[in-house]
Amino acid sequence: MAQRETWATRTGFILAAVGSAVGLGNIWRFPFVTGEGGGAAFLLVYLLFVALIGFPAILAEFVVGRRTDRNPVGALKAYGGGAWKYVGGIFIATGFIILSYYSVIGGWFIRYAIEGFRGDYASHIAAYEGDPEIMFGALSTGLDAFILHTVFMAITVGIVALGIRQGIELAVKVMVPAIILLLVGLAIWAFTLPESGGGYEYYLSPDFSVIAANWAELLPAAAGQAFFTLSLGMGVMITYASYLGEDRNLTRDGITIIGFDTGIAFLTGLVVFPIMWAGALTEPGSGGPGEIFVAMTQAFADVSGGQFLGLIFFATVAIAAISSAISLLEVVTSYAIDEIGIERWKAAIGMGGVIYLLGVPVTYDLIFLDLLDYFADAILLVFGALMLTILVGWIAPQAAVDELEKGIGNLGTLGQVWIWALRIPIVIVLIISLYLGVVEYVDFLTGDFAGWLDENL
Ligand code: PHE
Repeated sequence: MAQRETWATRTGFILAAVGSAVGLGNIWRFPFVTGEGGGAAFLLVYLLFVALIGFPAILAEFVVGRRTDRNPVGALKAYGGGAWKYVGGIFIATGFIILSYYSVIGGWFIRYAIEGFRGDYASHIAAYEGDPEIMFGALSTGLDAFILHTVFMAITVGIVALGIRQGIELAVKVMVPAIILLLVGLAIWAFTLPESGGGYEYYLSPDFSVIAANWAELLPAAAGQAFFTLSLGMGVMITYASYLGEDRNLTRDGITIIGFDTGIAFLTGLVVFPIMWAGALTEPGSGGPGEIFVAMTQAFADVSGGQFLGLIFFATVAIAAISSAISLLEVVTSYAIDEIGIERWKAAIGMGGVIYLLGVPVTYDLIFLDLLDYFADAILLVFGALMLTILVGWIAPQAAVDELEKGIGNLGTLGQVWIWALRIPIVIVLIISLYLGVVEYVDFLTGDFAGWLDENL
């Protein structure tokens, strides 16, 4: 068998993990879940989740990946024993599902960036009866969406087919710094816009009464967002850590990666909310997956310099989405390489092709986006994180501590603190979140989705 690939450099691994973490979750989802959760109050709860659950959980994935040097199926089998490979199988399936719709949304961002090349956003909106919602409706499904879904998947497959060093590592070395620079630039620009002040206030001064009144919805939403944004619960971090050749300090890497992801999510808020307020849109969080497109296009149509600002914004998000999509495809590809034994480029094209087909219904009707996104996010990722927590916390804790200590030295009681955090509090929070997620999904299936089927079949 060919030698397993490894990262060429220390920063390669970190940038790839940051590239995976920073994506639509930070930019498309974060501002609006924050909006739904009441702004700064949500921000606070989310930050607690990232630190108290995200950090221990990312370390769990790292140790399993580095110890076994395998894709998630092989890794869980090697780490936990026979039956755990089925949990690994669920991780692979989760990768299929998330990437299928992720690619469609990524395609929308490419489309909106192209609009910025073609003219200013005000005239685009005018072409759709002056309503950015009608514009979104027209672009988000149908032929346009289908073509850009194709383009997005083709780019993703191309990068993954080139391999760890020549493909993923090279791509993220350009993409991640670009994302950061562009967002900083946009945030500074947003600051100079008149009337943007209310956006900062909404975003940055927490209203504690909101937390007290809504905690039952706030908690699971914040938990789901924390996993999604850190790419946890489906083996991305297992896979990326499996390409580590040397024993590095995984704690430090984990802190760096989480720091970047959280910093970039926060920065995005500093772009989105002020620009919205400058465009006189002061009620974020009211509507669905199209909201950021509708709100931002309207804002870019209204503010000075909006065409350029919008072009840069949408292109930045598209880049961030690609650097996450490659991590999703890499999980599935590494599985095909290790377990089925096919060559990388064939694996990338074959798996990418199937995922692409799975995404096509989303370009037909957005009800399929809800169908897949709820399921993946509120159920599969939380389930995956729960399984990993049990595996590392209860089934094989000593191996995990030993592995973590490589590259750090003796952890003493800190290692035990980590294991006990996984064992009890984190398991409890995950079980509660999973329960709430299932309830919500059943609600959706018997409500909105059943209604849609009635109407359309
Ligand atoms: N973390 C990515 C984002 O925020 C999404 C993702 C989830 C990627 C799970 C890989 C695995 O957009």
